[in-house]
Amino acid sequence: MISYKEKIAEILAPHVDGLEKDEILDMLETPADSKMGDYAFPCFKLAKIFRKAPQMIAQTLAEAIGAESVFEKVENVNAYVNMFLSREEMAQEVVSEVIEKGDDYGRSNMGQGKKVIVEYSSPNIAKPFHIGHIRSTVIGNSIYKIYDFLGYDTIRINHLGDYGTQFGKMICAYRRWGNKEDVVREPIKSLLSYYTKFHVEAEKDPALEDEARAIFAKLEKGEPEEVELWKWFREESLKEFNRVYDMLGIEFDSYNGESFYSDKMPRIVDELKEKGLLVEDNGAQIVKLDEYDLPPALIKKSDGSTLYITRDIAAAVYRKETYDFYKNIYVVASQQNLHFQQWFKVIELMGYDWAKDCVHVPFGLVSMEDGTMSTRQGRVVFLEDVLNRAVEQTKQIILEKNVTTENIDETAHDVGVGAVVFNELSNYRIKDYVFSWDKVLNFEGETGPYVQYTHARACSILRRAGEDTVKAAKKGFDTSWITGESAHHLIKLLYALPEVIKEAGEKYEPSIVTRHIVDIAQGFNKFYHDEHILVEDEKEKTAKVALVLAVQTAIKNGLGLLGMKAPEKM
Ligand code: ARG
Repeated sequence: MISYKEKIAEILAPHVDGLEKDEILDMLETPADSKMGDYAFPCFKLAKIFRKAPQMIAQTLAEAIGAESVFEKVENVNAYVNMFLSREEMAQEVVSEVIEKGDDYGRSNMGQGKKVIVEYSSPNIAKPFHIGHIRSTVIGNSIYKIYDFLGYDTIRINHLGDYGTQFGKMICAYRRWGNKEDVVREPIKSLLSYYTKFHVEAEKDPALEDEARAIFAKLEKGEPEEVELWKWFREESLKEFNRVYDMLGIEFDSYNGESFYSDKMPRIVDELKEKGLLVEDNGAQIVKLDEYDLPPALIKKSDGSTLYITRDIAAAVYRKETYDFYKNIYVVASQQNLHFQQWFKVIELMGYDWAKDCVHVPFGLVSMEDGTMSTRQGRVVFLEDVLNRAVEQTKQIILEKNVTTENIDETAHDVGVGAVVFNELSNYRIKDYVFSWDKVLNFEGETGPYVQYTHARACSILRRAGEDTVKAAKKGFDTSWITGESAHHLIKLLYALPEVIKEAGEKYEPSIVTRHIVDIAQGFNKFYHDEHILVEDEKEKTAKVALVLAVQTAIKNGLGLLGMKAPEKM
């Protein structure tokens, strides 16, 4: 599709001698108020070059370019050259492109041949997949979808927390208070309750801690009994995680978690030693980072056990060797900022120039309206319960609305789960937020149900218009019927979508897509309110139906990038 900015810069360039095309591109603005045109070019900076008043420069420029066919009109207002694009030309260009590309509208091949790893979700075995984990899962999934859409070769990794001294405690607790049937029936809830009990009991009897340490040492040595229990905890937990992933429609290419790297760490420790980075500190092995204003990275404890950070270093080296990534993205809570700063620095000090290609994408905390959560006390909100409740409540709302969908359960699932996902992706990821049921399930606010409902409304118009009209619209339409204020506004939003997707990718910020599709949905509802769509006149109807089809396509593609379904009826 044509780039209007490029085109305008080309048109302006011969008239502003002292400026390069790129400088002009940078200077072009998109006025918030459409009365100031679709694009504006401020002339203040030009005063020095031309030795003329900005107002006069703008006047001369407006007159010089006004006759170009891309413009409807060009005006000088307060030293700005305000440019109004030809609405008909733009309607033709944009609406037909969206219709032609369909599901691929917004897709790009900019990432061709480049591998991008997106690591997300990464819950801990035998610990609840709580509402806090949803952030990594949902944000990561959307970042993966965006990179995939931009043509990158993506690899989705779930870096399971399936290793570490806590497994010594878990096995110890299971042996003392556990019960096999309970674990099979409710793996995480049961294992968590044993784990919680361990902490309570260990307060009274510190010998339990020693017992747990000894069990973990056995596990590290590969003693069959311990390994078997650990494997079983892992499998049962995964079954439960997968239930949530299925609900969300989320998949991974690899579940290589922390344990996968246990045999890949000695090599890293040796390498750190060889490179002169490892120093001894009270029996422990550390990498000093004070030169970089960071606390030391603890690589090996005095008892010889390795740590979370060691596994992350080993994992990054493994990923570089296995995938030769262009980018290695970690979607992990901002509480771990320091951890990532530390080990990115260690990688750099090891001489790996690809350290710069490792990206930590942090996000803020989520708390529930009724208080926070803490794993230790077992006071947690389970994500699965949240999703089920969202689906249940959505079903209630749909029933009350008396909608005639054949498949209420499927719709309630798509809308309920979508509501939670959309809510998650509505704010800048770095912001902390409070989860509120009222906000999530509101059909009127800037919510998932609102956008999905708007999409279903567009589908319903297309159904009512009938197949013949839709077919005709795909072939061609008379642009003069879609040049009104709200139609033009909508067309501009459709036009911007591909750039919006790129920006969201560059900034690892799905909320940019979320907000844009809310804008499209609002723009569409305004158009629907302002104009009659299914009118008598065939030409008028066909043109408007073409716009509706383009909007429906754009919203569907946008929702897809967030990891949401776009039901056709609701
Ligand atoms: N399992 C960790 C947690 O739940 C998150 C893992 C993040 N990924 C990483 N490569 N360190 O806190």
